[in-house]
Amino acid sequence: METIEEITKEILNCKKCDLYKTKTNYVPGSGNEHAEVVFVGEAPGREEDLKGEPFVGAAGKLLTEMLSKIGLRREDVFICNVLKCRPPNNRDPSPEEIEICGEYLKRQLDAIKPNMIVCLGRFATKFIFDLFGLEFSSISKVKGRIFEAQRWGKKIKIVPIYHPAAILYRPQLREEYEQQFRKIGELLSKKQPTLFDYI
Ligand code: URA
Repeated sequence: METIEEITKEILNCKKCDLYKTKTNYVPGSGNEHAEVVFVGEAPGREEDLKGEPFVGAAGKLLTEMLSKIGLRREDVFICNVLKCRPPNNRDPSPEEIEICGEYLKRQLDAIKPNMIVCLGRFATKFIFDLFGLEFSSISKVKGRIFEAQRWGKKIKIVPIYHPAAILYRPQLREEYEQQFRKIGELLSKKQPTLFDYI
């Protein structure tokens, strides 16, 4: 089974689509390769492109703050995006880019085998839902709901929520967002039952 380090090395040399020509840095993802939860965003923005790290701009600050409210540091989780290079002027990822680059995300998930995947926004949710055979209608219909899927020999949770940038534009959603993070925190701290829980 390949490691996150091996996948990262490959991403840092990728020329599979044209985005490598306009990017400053590749943004493979960062955090803990043994994380229980993976947060998936859309694509690097300007700050991420400059630093080579995901979610380090304004939306990233909000994500980091939400994590700390539920007792998690960025190093405790794994954070990445569907695309590993910034689309020029932050335009939407194209279906071809998602198909090509999404292979790296699938391999990252196979390497980490998380118990939970939190999808940040519409593009991440659509990608993860397709991957797990779940039906995606719209982010506003599925956000905050807990979906389950069978993968890596266990039951995993898939949690779609708004992209943190959406909360910056619509601060009235913040309370609901914090509530969704609290739920994520509670689900994470719930350990799997063992035999001792039944006797
Ligand atoms: N938005 C994303 O979807 N990902 C990032 O890394 C930053 C902003």
